[in-house]
Amino acid sequence: TDLYAVFGNPVKHSLSPDIHNIFAEQLGETLHYEARLAPVDDFAGAWRSFLDDGGYGANVTLPFKQEALDLADTLGVRARRAGAVNTLMLGRRGDIFGDNTDGVGLIRDLQRARAPLAGARVLVLGAGGAVRGVVEPLLNEGPEQLVIANRTEARAVELAEDFSDLGTVSGIGLPAISGGFDLVINATSASLAGDLPPLPDDLFNEGALAYDMMYGVESTVFMQWARARGVRGTDGLGMLVEQAAESFFLWRQRRPLTAPVLMALRARLI
Ligand code: ATR
Repeated sequence: TDLYAVFGNPVKHSLSPDIHNIFAEQLGETLHYEARLAPVDDFAGAWRSFLDDGGYGANVTLPFKQEALDLADTLGVRARRAGAVNTLMLGRRGDIFGDNTDGVGLIRDLQRARAPLAGARVLVLGAGGAVRGVVEPLLNEGPEQLVIANRTEARAVELAEDFSDLGTVSGIGLPAISGGFDLVINATSASLAGDLPPLPDDLFNEGALAYDMMYGVESTVFMQWARARGVRGTDGLGMLVEQAAESFFLWRQRRPLTAPVLMALRARLI
């Protein structure tokens, strides 16, 4: 039960092996965690070979989070609600358990960054898989209002409807965004290519936080846009570390300290 992996495609630049190895070292646990490239059309095959090799637990990243959901025999509530699995593990009877730690990872990192949440006006840009996984955890924090804005308006509306029983959440198209948010979370994949959807100049309230789920060596375009308007910006590296810590906890029942790991990664990225 000491073999772990992250499955993705591509996966070479994944920081997960580094993160989990630092966790293991910190807690004096002996384990092996590696990156495994799964073929785009055969995630199930890659998972089977992993089990054959004695694998026990895994993280799943793009583009396999949906397939991991289908593959799991049992789902945690967080995975069921998110419609995606980022953490897999073997159950006692050889069954496969799937959970999702992305949402709790985002919330813990937002708390670290002292983001306005309870009673706040929160805007999420994008309505893809990454957003579906975080809507419920965000609503659980009790924002005054959660707005999901997306290039394809219908996707945002549909997503908001799926969670409307949990709080005040609405879906709109990007041109309908009007100002006055305390927290804006960018979850568009456009960010990867350095693109930013058009945003109004009065987007932020005083004391707001701009959070980008993306991370990289340099500040993302969204963080730069926010900073140019005097608003603090944070990237998603902390979310990555926090979701990893929650996965580690599921597998090993021990909780690593995340702050030193985030600092170490930050130093390495620069
Ligand atoms: P992920 O798992 O990262 O969320 P996804 O499910 O493909 O990936 O979703 C990508 C998100 O980025 C979507 O909200 C997408 O908008 P559409 O639903 O309209 O496709 C958004 N996105 C991608 N490229 C964009 C761009 N150039 N401008 C604005 N939004 C963009």
